[in-house]
Amino acid sequence: MTWSEKGQVLATEAGRNHVAGPCTFVIFGGSGDLARRKLLPALYNLMLDGMLPSGYAVLGLGRKTLSDQDFRARAREGVGKYSRQALDDGKWAEFERRLFYLSGSIDDSQLYHDIRTRAEKIEAELKLPAHRIFYLAVPPASFATTCEGLQGAGLAQPTLGPTPFPRMIVEKPIGHDLESARQINVIVGQVYEESQIFRIDHYLGKETVQNLMVLRFANSIFEPIWNHKFIDHVQITVSEAEGVGTRATYYQEAGALRDMVQNHLLQLLCLVAMEPPYSLDPHVVRNARMEVLRCLHPITGQDVERFVVRAQYGHGKVNNVDVPGFRREPGIPSDSTTETYVALKAFVENWRWAGVPFYLRTGKGMVKRASEIAVQFRDIPQILFNANPAAPQAPNVLALRIQPEEGLSLRIISKTPGSKAQTHPVEMHFKYGDVFGAPSPEAYERLLLDVMAGDASLFMRRDAVEASWAWITNILEGWKAQGIKWLPEYAAGSWGPVEADRLIQTDGRAWRTL
Ligand SMILES: NC(=O)c1ccc[n+]([C@@H]2O[C@H](COP(=O)([O-])OP(=O)(O)OC[C@H]3O[C@@H](n4cnc5c(N)ncnc54)[C@H](OP(=O)(O)O)[C@@H]3O)[C@@H](O)[C@H]2O)c1
Repeated sequence: MTWSEKGQVLATEAGRNHVAGPCTFVIFGGSGDLARRKLLPALYNLMLDGMLPSGYAVLGLGRKTLSDQDFRARAREGVGKYSRQALDDGKWAEFERRLFYLSGSIDDSQLYHDIRTRAEKIEAELKLPAHRIFYLAVPPASFATTCEGLQGAGLAQPTLGPTPFPRMIVEKPIGHDLESARQINVIVGQVYEESQIFRIDHYLGKETVQNLMVLRFANSIFEPIWNHKFIDHVQITVSEAEGVGTRATYYQEAGALRDMVQNHLLQLLCLVAMEPPYSLDPHVVRNARMEVLRCLHPITGQDVERFVVRAQYGHGKVNNVDVPGFRREPGIPSDSTTETYVALKAFVENWRWAGVPFYLRTGKGMVKRASEIAVQFRDIPQILFNANPAAPQAPNVLALRIQPEEGLSLRIISKTPGSKAQTHPVEMHFKYGDVFGAPSPEAYERLLLDVMAGDASLFMRRDAVEASWAWITNILEGWKAQGIKWLPEYAAGSWGPVEADRLIQTDGRAWRTL
């Protein structure tokens, strides 16, 4: 086979169905923040890139009374502000004529009949099949009513085929513990078949995250050393500079463990640790990720205190701006014990990863916004190039940067130029932007396209959601048993609390500075 960059990509994707057919997006929460900042800009960018099917429509829903024109104006404002690619008047005109709005309350059964009537009218006008994709961008408390309403109006019956319409996209948070996640899954599952449900974890749509599988399974040099014999440990960091912002009420209830670890960090861990899937079939890939969750050693009882650190940001400066402590943020109780930071040590108990710690950390009010997966390799025998074997040379580290600048770096040891036998760690960098030019598509672009194409590889299956909640719920129960009144603090604008440093230093290791 002749090699070309493009040909290679096509060959890799050949096993996957990426043809998006004509459809209508029906967005519950069309007047909300997620639609304005992420969903509508994502669809607009897909249109600019020629990735949308020739026929499509978007029907936004919400309680606000808006005309189609109002909705289009709001969408334009959101796209102007948040789109990856600049707003183009000609292209926008083409896009906006396919945007529609319907106002009504989810609690009113009439809404669902109105949706049906409106969707049928739009489909007749635009000559679209009745292929609907419902998007639950509303608070989870509304999921049950929405699903029942849709079923009541005959908007749930699946078409024939392996990935039938209508399709249902479910946003996070899917529950706040195992029990509530199960309840949501049961409710949605009573109305839609698993093959119709797409549970979003937008981290899985990020370019570097998808590249992790390519890196591991399309290169010959990594997989042979991707195991406990060569890897010392793995660090996964997702740090956010911003505080709770406008999400105080939600965050006070959720905290960092539920908000970030249960979904994003555990999914990243799964991608690092999974066995090679035998094909790119969504079911096979999701099975491979699921196996990792099954192998996670449960952290229970006394181990919760040993392996998990939680903390809150106190007063400090982020980017030279004064930040009050978390408990002084508007909407946060002054005696809140909600964690804004979590660091933990996890083990994947299988042959490949025996004894290899996975250190995970995430927090708000930290020094900067940065996400990274770092794989640190074992030390080499300190014989040849180290005058002081008690202070080993810097280890090899493969770091995959997820944000802000997607790419990867590999730290290796090099000889310092000159006649002395001195060594120095150097880093080889690869940045997506430099190599491929245009900025990578936003995660939601890829994910919405996949839903249209019926490819569920990058979505959370029901059993995976519940397995990750089961693991997290052990920690939540351990915290409850501890019953502490105050959490350790870290200064806003720092890398986290000293307790987290101790967690990793006890093992003779250190957190990376990103
Ligand atoms: N924003 C994000 O970046 C983000 C990221 C991940 C997940 N999420 C999740 O996505 C969901 C929506 O988030 P958001 O930030 O867009 O929230 P938001 O700005 O508060 O918007 C909520 C949307 O839901 C609609 N809504 C709420 N109750 C309704 C009801 N009874 N009947 C009809 N419509 C109703 C609202 O309509 P009206 O305003 O017209 O009443 C609005 O369109 C939440 O569950 C959130 O946790 C959000």
